Amino acid sequence: MENELRVPNHIAIILDGNGRWAKRRGMPRGYGHIVGCDNLEKMCVVIKDMGVKYLTVYAFSTENWKRSRDEVEGLMKLFRQYLKRCIKKAHKNQMRVRIIGDPSAFPQDIQESIHILEDCSKDYDQMFFQIAMNYGSRDEILRGMTRMISDARDGRLPKDGFEDGKMTEALFESYLDTAGIPDPDLLIRTSGEQRLSNYLLWQLAYTEFYFTDVPWPDFHEEELRKAIEQYNRRDRRYGGVKEE
Ligand code: FPP
Repeated sequence: MENELRVPNHIAIILDGNGRWAKRRGMPRGYGHIVGCDNLEKMCVVIKDMGVKYLTVYAFSTENWKRSRDEVEGLMKLFRQYLKRCIKKAHKNQMRVRIIGDPSAFPQDIQESIHILEDCSKDYDQMFFQIAMNYGSRDEILRGMTRMISDARDGRLPKDGFEDGKMTEALFESYLDTAGIPDPDLLIRTSGEQRLSNYLLWQLAYTEFYFTDVPWPDFHEEELRKAIEQYNRRDRRYGGVKEE
């Protein structure tokens, strides 16, 4: 069975349900984020060992600043600790880590950790791990297009970026935070909600979606296998039609 499973090249995950998971246990929401963060570290290795090349997770959205001060501060503390640990993990797993989103809103020390992490892992290629932090897809597109307009004014847009007077997808994509990263094959959203929440709107155009009620802190290897099994079933069905 294991050998028959075709593993997606790129999995994107919306890590949802930490808060509800904690509340159900009579614990503060922040505890859910801590357990969710531990689970992310474990699942990252599981996903790499399965042979998935790209993993992109939604850790903090442009909307998440609206949460209570306590919760946002707790998340900043968690990011601080996690980014440092992630430097070690990147070396150990030969994994390139990139942050997508706008890091300029984070405290200076977090921005520095992001810089160190991205720089020290930039030559690794065993796995490509993207963490969306202060990320929103509309914001990504607006930031990208603002840069494109500035490049256009300076005459720096490539001539082959336009065909028959229309911008190519390749040129547009080169201005996204995910430039150079292939689109996700499978999107997983945990904890019951069935929406995109401003995540990778352009990049998910052809992606298979998998929604599960399981909250992120409980989403372990067995749940991931279920998602990949369902992806395989769907891929075969639609694959057949596509090839005709
Ligand atoms: C959604 O759960 C989760 C978040 C807003 C944060 C995700 C963060 C982590 C998994 C931990 C930290 C990650 C990194 C990369 C360090 P929720 O709070 O929306 O849960 P709820 O829907 O039950 O309220």
